[in-house]
Amino acid sequence: MNGSKDRSNLPWVEKYRPVTLDDVYGQKEIVGTVRKFVEEGKLPHLLFYGPPGTGKTSTIIALAREIYGKNYSNMVLELNASDDRGIDVVRNQIKEFASTRQIFSKGFKLIILDEADAMTNAAQNALRRIIEKYTKNTRFCILANYAHKLTPALLSRCTRFRFQPLPSDAIETRIANVLVHENLKLNDTAKRALLDLSKGDMRRVLNVLQASRATLDDPSNEEITDDIIYECVGAPRPEDLETVLKSILEDDWSTAYYTLTKVRTMKGLALIDLIEGIVKILEEYELKNEVTRIELLTRLGDIEYAISKGGNDKIQSSAVIGAIKTSFELEV
Ligand SMILES: Nc1ncnc2c1ncn2[C@@H]1O[C@H](COP(=O)(O)OP(=O)(O)OP(=O)(O)O)[C@@H](O)[C@H]1O
Ligand SMILES: [Mg+2]
Repeated sequence: MNGSKDRSNLPWVEKYRPVTLDDVYGQKEIVGTVRKFVEEGKLPHLLFYGPPGTGKTSTIIALAREIYGKNYSNMVLELNASDDRGIDVVRNQIKEFASTRQIFSKGFKLIILDEADAMTNAAQNALRRIIEKYTKNTRFCILANYAHKLTPALLSRCTRFRFQPLPSDAIETRIANVLVHENLKLNDTAKRALLDLSKGDMRRVLNVLQASRATLDDPSNEEITDDIIYECVGAPRPEDLETVLKSILEDDWSTAYYTLTKVRTMKGLALIDLIEGIVKILEEYELKNEVTRIELLTRLGDIEYAISKGGNDKIQSSAVIGAIKTSFELEV
């Protein structure tokens, strides 16, 4: 783990960014395979894709460090495709980089194209020519959240690796290090809440931990509680969700609406998080009638979509109550 003094003021996601491939947790198979490619001198063009905060950028940068050592800056070009630059700029940069001679070292140069799914189709199509043209002495590593946003032509030129959300035990091991390093205590319920809420996104874990620490008056003597975690994530507590759900199922309409609104304003919760939480609770509900669940999830799904499209908050809140009440009528 890296902890030299000049890094102490960095945000934790940077401070604890993996330095070597061994610091990349929970992606053993990918790391193993890519390392093997390098050892055998058969590195293909790579595509790393998957949800945020799972180590795509960290892995390729650690790999490049492992390959090139202090030659890194001569041999690696990092481009961020979502920077607002046209493909012409990218093409020129790549051309310049790929066509300069390597005086001191042999082997491939590496071009990392981060957030490539933000590129337009036209730019991606231009890229496939570029990749072909420079394959002789260059390897590309394309990073993206969604493979389906990349053109088939680009996909077929790369060996694909899907980064899964990090498993809880990997995150636990990683944060154990961080906690020791930061001299920070996290109680067990808080840890469970953190792992639950972060859904395998290590960036989120680190950001929440850092924000939680900032709320403590005396970090070396206090511990982080689940209350702090929920607050920092802005996620509803299970008890609050139960209160809302109970009221919707048992009370009349206006009481239910009042309860939902009260919980939301008091805790500053977004309706979308509330829906997500309710769906999660309802997944574990035993229902007499499976149709109830189907009906309910379909309706809540529609509401979630409407909210993401900018639907009115009040109307959608009522819709949530309506969706749950009507679906549960199927139960009796
Ligand atoms: N597998 C991992 N092992 C250890 N730390 C990780 C891992 N994945 C992510 N992190 C931590 O989270 C931060 C963000 O990781 P990274 O930038 O590699 O994510 P990413 O997969 O590229 O995400 P995005 O899709 O948002 O670009 C890193 O600084 C690192 O501290
Ligand atoms: Mg990244």
